[in-house]
Formats: sequence, C-alpha cells, structure tokens
Amino acid sequence: MEKLLVGLKRLEYRGYDSAGFAMDDNEKCEDDDDDDEEEEGGDKKRHDAKKVIVCREVGKIANLEALARKELFGEDDDDENEVKASKSKSSNGRKKSSSSIKPLDFCASIAHTRWATHGPPNKINTHPHTSDSRENEFVVVHNGIITNHAPLRAMLERRGMKFETDTDTEVIPKLCKFLSDKFEESGEKDVTFRQLAMEVTRQLQGAYALVFKSTKYPGELVAAKRGSPLLMGISDDSGEVSCVIDGNLSDGAEEDVLLKKASGNKKRKSMTGGAAAAPAADADTTTTTRITTTTTTTTNNPKVEFYFASDASAMVEHTKRVLVLEDDDVCHCHDGTYKIYKVEKQKHPHPGYTSGHDSPEYGLYKPVVLSKEVERTIETLEMEVESIMKGEFDHFMQKEIFEQPEAISSTMRGRLVLDVLGAAERVMLGGMSQFAATIRRSRRIILCGCGTSYNSAIAIRQLFEELTELPVTLELASDVLDRRCPFFRDDTCIFISQSGETADTLKALEYAKAKGALCVGIVNTVGSAISRATDCGVHINAGAEIGVASTKAYTCQIVAMVLVALSLSEDSRSKHTRRDDIMQGLLKLPGCVKECLKMDAILLELAQELKEEHSLLIFGRGFNYATALEGALKVKEVALVHSEGILAGEMKHGPLALVDKHMPIIVVCTNDGSYEKQQSVVQQLKARDGRLILIVSDDDTEMEKTAPDAVILRVPKVEDCLQAVVNIVPLQLLSYHLTVLRGHNCDQPRNLAKSVTVE
Ligand code: UD1
Ligand code: BG6
Repeated sequence: MEKLLVGLKRLEYRGYDSAGFAMDDNEKCEDDDDDDEEEEGGDKKRHDAKKVIVCREVGKIANLEALARKELFGEDDDDENEVKASKSKSSNGRKKSSSSIKPLDFCASIAHTRWATHGPPNKINTHPHTSDSRENEFVVVHNGIITNHAPLRAMLERRGMKFETDTDTEVIPKLCKFLSDKFEESGEKDVTFRQLAMEVTRQLQGAYALVFKSTKYPGELVAAKRGSPLLMGISDDSGEVSCVIDGNLSDGAEEDVLLKKASGNKKRKSMTGGAAAAPAADADTTTTTRITTTTTTTTNNPKVEFYFASDASAMVEHTKRVLVLEDDDVCHCHDGTYKIYKVEKQKHPHPGYTSGHDSPEYGLYKPVVLSKEVERTIETLEMEVESIMKGEFDHFMQKEIFEQPEAISSTMRGRLVLDVLGAAERVMLGGMSQFAATIRRSRRIILCGCGTSYNSAIAIRQLFEELTELPVTLELASDVLDRRCPFFRDDTCIFISQSGETADTLKALEYAKAKGALCVGIVNTVGSAISRATDCGVHINAGAEIGVASTKAYTCQIVAMVLVALSLSEDSRSKHTRRDDIMQGLLKLPGCVKECLKMDAILLELAQELKEEHSLLIFGRGFNYATALEGALKVKEVALVHSEGILAGEMKHGPLALVDKHMPIIVVCTNDGSYEKQQSVVQQLKARDGRLILIVSDDDTEMEKTAPDAVILRVPKVEDCLQAVVNIVPLQLLSYHLTVLRGHNCDQPRNLAKSVTVE
C-alpha cells in the first residue's frame, strides 16, 4: 500500500479529484480453498485466490491514505503509526489490525488518481472500478476515454448487469465479467487473463491505458494501451529480469523458461525528465500498478517488481529501467515474468451491439483476437527523484519558476556551440539537421499547440517569419480538428507540447501526418506520444514540470524554437549579424532570468496590494503580445482572478471601456521596436486614470516620466526576440504570490489537469 500511495502522490499533479486502489487481502476467496492445484489453462495455479480490497476517497491522496489507514488498519488520524486493533467492519468488511496481517507471497495491486470527466468527483465514480463491488472479481484502472461506453453499457444492462457509477470506465470491468462468463458457458475454460483482456479491449473505442486485476487470475496483472501513455518499469535487485517466452509455467518447470536478459544498455532514446505526459484522461488520469512475485527469476533474488504508470515519476524511486508500451500492446505479468503482445489489427465489432456474428451479446462466443509476442526496448531513465520533489521550495510552481536559469541552460546545452573565446558560434540541433533543408523548402510553417505551449508559439512567430522568410501561421490544436483546416504536403507543422501527450495536439499531429505535412515536435517529455510520432524535433530538456501551471516549459520552449529558427537560417548571409546578436543574447539569457528572480520580494509586495482585486488587464504587443497572454493565463489559472491578455494595438477597439481608476493594468513596455507605440498606450491609459504597473527595461528613463504614479518593474534588457523569456518572470512570480496570498493551491488549481489527454 505504501508503494501505491507514494506512486499516486508522485502522479497527483495529473489528477486530484479523487483516488483509489485495489490490492490483495490476505484472506482467501471463499470458493477457492481447495483448488490450489487445479489445472488452469494447462498450468497449475500456484497462488491462492485472495480477496481484493478496494479503497477509494474523494480529494487528495492524503485523504485516501488517511481513510485506508483507518479503515484497513484501524489507525486513527491522531496517531498514524500506532495501530489499533479494531473489530468493526470497514466499507470492504475487511478491517483488521496490522498484527493480524501476514505478508503476502505475491502482490498485484493497482491504483489511480482521477480528474473527472464522466460523472462528478465522488467516491462512487472513483477508480478502481469493479465488475461487482461486493465481490471485486475484476477490477480495472483506466486513463483515457471510452467513446462507445453508452452502447456497451446498454448492451450489458440488457444482459442483466447493474451499473453503479456514472463513468465510462465501468463498462470495462463489467465486460470482463460478461465475457468471462460467456467463455465459461461456451466451454472455453482455458482462456487466459491476457486473452480475456484483449477480447475486452476489442470492444472498446476511444483512448485507454488500462490495468486489469482479477480474483480469478490471482497474482496476475494485464496492462493494455491505445492512445493514452503507459510505461512499464522493471525492478530487480539482480539487474536481470526473466521473461517467459513460451507458454505457461508449472511448478518446478524452470527448464521450460527461456530467459531473456533485459538489460538497460539497449538504450535507443534515453528518457529524461518529463514527468508528464498525461491527464488525463477522461479523465481520469493515471495508473500506478505494482506486481511483486516470487518465482522464475534468473538469480536467487526472489523479488521482481513490475510497475505500470502513466508517467515515469511514479516509479523512478524504484527503478530507472522502463519500457514504453505502444498502441495495441498488451502486457501480461505473472510469476515474476512479463510478456508483451501486439494485438493484430482487425475490423472493429459493431459498436451498437444490435446484431452481427462478432457481437458477444447473443449465443456462444469464443475468443477471436489474435496477437503476436513483441519485444520492447528497455530504456534507462535519466530522471532523478529529486527532480520530482519540492526540495527547499514550498510549491512546485515556485521551484519551477526558480529553476528557469538552469532549465534554459539545459535547453541550450550542446546545441549552442561556442568558439574558443567562449562566444556563441553556431547552433547544432542533432534531431533536426537531416530535415532542415526540407523545412526551408516548405510552403509555410504552422505552429500548433494548446494553452501555454500555444502562447510560446505566439512569442516566437515573428522571429520565425523574420529568419526563415516563410509564412508562419498559428493554430490552436483543437481548432485544427474543428475546422479540418487545409494542410498540405509542402507544409511543415511544428507541434509544441510540454507533456507530449495532450490529446488535441496529438490528434492535430495525426491529422497533419495524414495530409502529408512534415511534422516536427518541440516537446519536454522524451518518449511521449508526440515526441515519438513526429518526424523529427527538439526535446526542450527543461526537466520534469509538476506544477499544473506551466512556467519553465514556456521559457524553454521559446528558447528551443529560437534555436530552431537560427538553425533554419544558418545559410543566410544577410541575416548573419542579426543571428549573431541573438546567439550572444542567448548566452546571457540564463543570467538575465536570474536577475529577474531577484524581484521576488517586490512581486510579493505587489501581490499583497492586488490580492483583493477581481480583475487584471495585461497589455503587450509585438514580441510581448505572448507575454500579456501568458501572464494573464497564469493569473487566471492559479490565482483564480479574472485576467485578460490584450494586444495593445486593440486597446481602442473595446478594452479601453474597462479602464477606470480601480482597474489594475499591467503594460509590458520594454525597449524594443514597439516601445514608442507602448508609450502612447501608457499615456492613453493614464489619461483615463488607469492604475498602471509597467514592465520596463532596466535602463529606461522615459516611462516613469510618462506615468509618474505607476508601479515600475525593471527587467534586464536582452535582444528583442528573447525579451519575452525575461518579461514573463515577474508575471509568473506575481501569479504565484497572488495564489498563495489568496489561499489557493498553485500546484493543483481547481478543475485543471497538467496533461489533458482527452479531447
Ligand atoms: C540527443 C540525446 C541526448 C544526448 C545528445 C548528444 C535523447 C533523447 N537525446 O539529444 O541525451 O546528450 O543527443 O548528442 O536521446 N525528436 C522527435 N520529436 C520530438 C523531439 C525529438 O522526433 O518532439 C527526435 C529528434 O529528431 C532526435 C531525437 O528525437 O532524433 C532526440 O532529440 P533530442 O533529444 O532533441 O536530440 P539531441 O539534442 O541530439
Ligand atoms: C494543460 C496544462 O492545460 O495543457 C497547461 O494545464 C498546458 O499548463 C496545456 O499549457 C498544454 O499542455 P502541453 O503538455 O501540450 O504543453
């Protein structure tokens, strides 16, 4: 339970409406006492069928932990470590003192943290979902969304199954039970857990990362994936892992086992920091799973552990050896071994279940899904546990804001090449070099993303246009799909995503690929779906970003795209000086961001002044229109204060009507090509008594004359196209302090998720 809870805590940033887990009890199932040696699927059962405890709670993982300790172990809140023996029954009827708990010889457990999409965040809708909440014969955790859950539910209800939740997920364990019974009726008694899970997933449409557990298949777990991210981690003290290649094991049949050494040095892409990758899903979000078994390892080490999770943060404390499951992979863990199968593509069964010979609804039904065993490369995570801990900081958001100087350096490391004197000489992007010529020949460049990632595209558009001399358009990923906008073979589409898993961005990428466009990724999470699906790209190497409000990923995305723009224009003689200025500017950037962070106390003071306000306007233009949008997004998403980022050129076309002496207005007017126009904006706002806060360059002397009553925030001056990286820092700090002062949670803001893996 400890491992499950810690895993869930590491993934809490992805979903925090509610959480739950299912694990083996050490009591046997009532009808299982005498059948330990019963033949099953040509194999002998070596594990007793244990009852399964399911525990769920609304809110944070801490609530689940408190409930579990109280209900399952009789511990109370005041003295968590002191176990009180208690006779009263828990909701599972399983309450016991820890002194009565015997260690299990194997353990297959699942857990989940939910971000609600189907049904409110209450206890009933919390995962794991079960085939029947009394017996818990089949339990399932799911990250994703089942789009045909309604006809499936109708079919199962017609066949007498009673549903207990509002979720799309519940059809999955119910289908397990329904099909399992069907197979029994049809005389198919040897159906394995894997085959059953494959038959179930055959009926599903939508996206899923699933882990199945069952009292019918004790000690086993099956994981399946399509669309939603799923990693598997392998932990074995010996450094080796055994894998059954051929069929089932019987007691003492080690000689039948072909051993596959899964060593970490088969690295294809090493995985770095990105924790994320997901929401999740339907909401729900993430899945942490643990199986510990005691047999068939190559060494005397009796303990092998397999972990499944939506992202690496849940398992990095236990293992750095992971493999990324691909769509239509099904992984079966039992007896200290794992095997991965690829389900063969087939026609989808009729989603409405009204008729058709492949519907399981009527008559006898036999397993039909074919699969073949596949190997997946084991990779070594480069992530360190510390990167997903808060360390000396109070919040992840604060930590990630302060990490920006180092994160920006990491983005540039090895890519901004220096000469002997330490000046920047050229840009080298390993992953892009082969594609640079094709991109230069494109008809246009399309920058596409969601949320903060989209704002980073806005920040970089002007420089892309300037350096590549190609038309550059911006697309919100969801809008690409809504409009089915025209993409062509000679387009280059750049997809920007911190997590690399955002459903809209991923779908837009699939759409662009289908249209034949060259697809490039700017992604933080190595191994994520977008990173893998793009033709080429750049990992921003910002390290894990846990706070839901993106901060360091934003600045690093801009820096990565500056590098891309520089590398695409390296042959241009006319741009030589400009390119050189930008490269030298990049070298100074981490130091300038560090300078900005020294303004923390000033921003705290400003936040104190603004904390009761209901609205905040931010004006920017040119390179800093993005700063206005991103600053406003930060303020609204975490401080829960209405805020609008406005293109200053549009001020007279509506926003000016909102201006009075009460309205706080931030104007970004650092010294670049837009400076004079922004000076005029400031004058006009002042003429309407606006309460002004001005972000100006450190050497500016004019603005305080223009608006002597304004609060002036001075930031280091950098090359115009890099200024957005510096200017956002005071706004990040302001939104952080506003949030804390207003008593809100900046890391897990209301209703939001870090990775939105549902459309
Ligand atoms: C790579 C290594 C890095 C090593 C460096 C040494 C990885 C992940 N990175 O970094 O550890 O220090 O070489 O030269 O192994 N890609 C996409 N889509 C994306 C992002 C990246 O297809 O969204 C591709 C790239 O085209 C490239 C590969 O993934 O083929 C790695 O990209 P990236 O990490 O950015 O490359 P390097 O900086 O060369
Ligand atoms: C969510 C996150 O809305 O998704 C944002 O809360 C993020 O922080 C957005 O900007 C897009 O996510 P990603 O992972 O594609 O950059």
